[in-house]
Amino acid sequence: MEQSALFQPIAIKSLRLPNRIVMAPMTRYFSPNGVPTPDVAAYYRRRAEGGVGLLISEGTGIDRPTAVYDPDIPLFHGESALAGWKAVIDGVHAAGGRMAPQLWHVGAMADPARTCTCASRLESPSGFTAPGKKLGVIMTESDIADTIRAFAAGAADAKRLGFDCVELHGAHSYLIDQFFWEATNHRTDAYGGATLSERSRFAAEVVRAVRRAVGEDFVISLRLSQWKQQDFTVKLAPTPAALDAWLGPLADAGVDIFHCSQRRFWEPEFEGSDLNFAGWARKLTGKRTITVGSVGLDNDLLAMFAGESSRPTSIQNLLARLERGEFDLVAVGRALLGDAHWAAKIRAGRAQDLRGFDPQSLATLY
Ligand SMILES: Cc1cc2nc3c(=O)[nH]c(=O)nc-3n(C[C@H](O)[C@H](O)[C@H](O)COP(=O)(O)O)c2cc1C
Repeated sequence: MEQSALFQPIAIKSLRLPNRIVMAPMTRYFSPNGVPTPDVAAYYRRRAEGGVGLLISEGTGIDRPTAVYDPDIPLFHGESALAGWKAVIDGVHAAGGRMAPQLWHVGAMADPARTCTCASRLESPSGFTAPGKKLGVIMTESDIADTIRAFAAGAADAKRLGFDCVELHGAHSYLIDQFFWEATNHRTDAYGGATLSERSRFAAEVVRAVRRAVGEDFVISLRLSQWKQQDFTVKLAPTPAALDAWLGPLADAGVDIFHCSQRRFWEPEFEGSDLNFAGWARKLTGKRTITVGSVGLDNDLLAMFAGESSRPTSIQNLLARLERGEFDLVAVGRALLGDAHWAAKIRAGRAQDLRGFDPQSLATLY
């Protein structure tokens, strides 16, 4: 396995990665009052020791009053939280890993399984948490300007603390995605519009502000999903031409990596080609891309919500796609939650030792 495409280094601007394995961002609720603890630092360090090339942190809240909906989700502003993150990145570097924080604003989405005391104050483009379902407040243009500044400030802090790159969470129905989606963006000002390109203005302005804050050489990843938590069948861009019109301006604004979220990486994005979402994003923009979705496991994310366990499975199909250059990097979620040494075991060809994933393991921070 050592000779396989998965274990070839890659350089993207100032980012130097030893291999193509990325830890997918995963919210863990183990940071009381928004401050990552030493246990959180040890959890990330363990994955770096286990051979992951690039770790992307769980979503971490930018400096807006309702950026996240739970006090145990980490923040990415304020002295204590940033000191917690400094310990995280120092530990990851000591283990030879590289890391990005995933900067997050939830918009009008709250996790139904958690008590959200801030629900009525959640801010979003048009005050919708789902099509036709109102929640929270509509952002003014000055709220939007402050939010763009808060993303940029988070990115500047990431660079100052020593993180290797930054990811913006533009997927899964959270704030940036709420601007993209016509069902949650009914604005009639410059941040709304009939076309996806018009509704991408907010994201493009965030990316441009982040680029100004971090300089040319610091890598910016943008995570996107066609699917929505409220409806997995939604496709913001139903054709390659629509995808091109969506991603082109975002690439021009300064995105270096498109992190293309799917639940099953092998599913073709459009009829007539077996390229997946990351494959199309790479082909259309020429940018580096990350694929994700059920890598190394025998079921998808929805199985976790149903309380089902997942067993290890072959990654041959993934390797074949990586070898032919469909995408550059591969994010692994639940398989890395269940097994901190997933990457090292794959590298050593120890498939029989892989542990799979049990949703009950979410109760602890192994
Ligand atoms: C416990 C858990 C928490 C997650 N939290 C986030 C998050 O904070 N940000 C994000 O972009 N995706 C989040 N995801 C989605 C994962 O990054 C990933 O896309 C998804 O789990 C599919 O990958 P997998 O099949 O390898 O698990 C989360 C997934 C899990 C399992």
